[in-house]
Amino acid sequence: MENEKLACLIEISRSSPQLITVEATVVSGLEKIAEGECYEIFGKTTLIISERGRVYFNILREHLPNVFLMRSIDNVYIIVYVKEINFGSDKKEDLSMLLNCYSEIEWRKPISVWKDVYQYSGTTYPTKEEYETSKRIYNTLNDSNPKKCKIAKEKNHIYNEISNWNEKNCKNLTNVERPDDEPQENIAKDNSNVGDAVSADAKITVPKFRVSAKRVGTHSFTSEDVARTYGALIQEDFLWIVDLTDFNMEIMTNVTDSDFIISISLTKSSLHRRNLTVFGLTSLRATICYSLIKMALPQVGDVVIDPLSGSGSIPIEGAAAFPKSYFVAGDFQDVPCGLTKKNLENYDISKTLPLDVMKWDSLKLPIRNSSVDVVVTDMPFGKRSGSKKSNKVLYPGVLRELGRVLRKGTGRAVLLTADRRSLEMAHNMTKKLWNLADRRHVNVGGLKAVVFLLRRTLFD
Ligand SMILES: C[S@@+](CC[C@H](N)C(=O)[O-])C[C@H]1O[C@@H](n2cnc3c(N)ncnc32)[C@H](O)[C@@H]1O
Repeated sequence: MENEKLACLIEISRSSPQLITVEATVVSGLEKIAEGECYEIFGKTTLIISERGRVYFNILREHLPNVFLMRSIDNVYIIVYVKEINFGSDKKEDLSMLLNCYSEIEWRKPISVWKDVYQYSGTTYPTKEEYETSKRIYNTLNDSNPKKCKIAKEKNHIYNEISNWNEKNCKNLTNVERPDDEPQENIAKDNSNVGDAVSADAKITVPKFRVSAKRVGTHSFTSEDVARTYGALIQEDFLWIVDLTDFNMEIMTNVTDSDFIISISLTKSSLHRRNLTVFGLTSLRATICYSLIKMALPQVGDVVIDPLSGSGSIPIEGAAAFPKSYFVAGDFQDVPCGLTKKNLENYDISKTLPLDVMKWDSLKLPIRNSSVDVVVTDMPFGKRSGSKKSNKVLYPGVLRELGRVLRKGTGRAVLLTADRRSLEMAHNMTKKLWNLADRRHVNVGGLKAVVFLLRRTLFD
């Protein structure tokens, strides 16, 4: 079985009412950082396995709120079921193997975890009457006012559920952004139009759910076949309402060459949406920023700079996650400096981040020699920002300047780019200044990027 270890993990959590198996998505290439964060938060003995783009770990159910405080992960799921299946080439037989799994699934614990996370107040195991009453209201609502229903769904429901739970359980996450990154006043305006749709929606006391299907490999059936089959089984079994867009619960099915995995989503919007309110063309996810900063291991009192900071995603995440270090963001253009200042202004009012914003040229930093502890930066990839041609001049110049300002012997620089050639070339040209301590391939919005961790040598 590809996921033999995962099956073991689930077996262990199934055997104890207090344990659950959590799945979290991560930017591929940065799984080790997420693993490290799991160990930091849940202890060194935590059972963790990771594969490209995700980590799985067992934790005590009461520790689940801490998962939502993690900074390196994007989406969170609770694992329900894992099974090795030898799929053949006959669609009917393959689907019947998937169907046969249904009777083995233990839903109670994951459903109750889901209920806690979303503070769902409806009935998860409704009677036929309760289902029929809810279904009638649901049909009337959809038939009579599809538009209002749609607005209610988009503006209210998803955000409210997850943010209520986060606010109650994870004090530090009170500034989780709305899924659509919309300014608050727009949300308030739209809400005034949807009061009656929302209150009718509240009379639906059974969960609305959808099954989403992912499939990797060659199979005799499609993802839609799996989603449809499992959607029908669950609907019939639990008497819930199928709703593909305005759902309370999303059940994920994942089919690989030989595995079938079922999970329930515990996040309706990625945890990376937390710091920025205004974005540049190349703003980075907070989860990537955290992982880059973590690679440099900032210490208490360290001075950390991002010399090409754009909208400030790296230093803002850094100052929020490592408030005992001092961060400086700098860019040579007014617009990105303005975006960083706006993002700082809009940041949680109760927190003052240890962060200053400068307009500077990263080739001539207004900083004394050997005085900076850490550099973490996202260099122009030469696509949306800069060009591959200008990178050939910019990168070696930046590396020389960083070599000047970083402390000899202890300074470290974490550099991200999708222009690997220019970075390798620049590193070669300034080799005396650096030891290459780590190099990782990461996926940034579908682009193959590379991260270098460089340590400043003692040489000039
Ligand atoms: C890839 S973007 C950084 C994106 C940033 N991480 C964010 O989240 O918005 C690179 C930035 O480098 C800046 N830049 C390019 N050349 C520069 C230079 N010589 N000095 C300072 N900034 C420069 C660009 O203005 C751009 O904002």
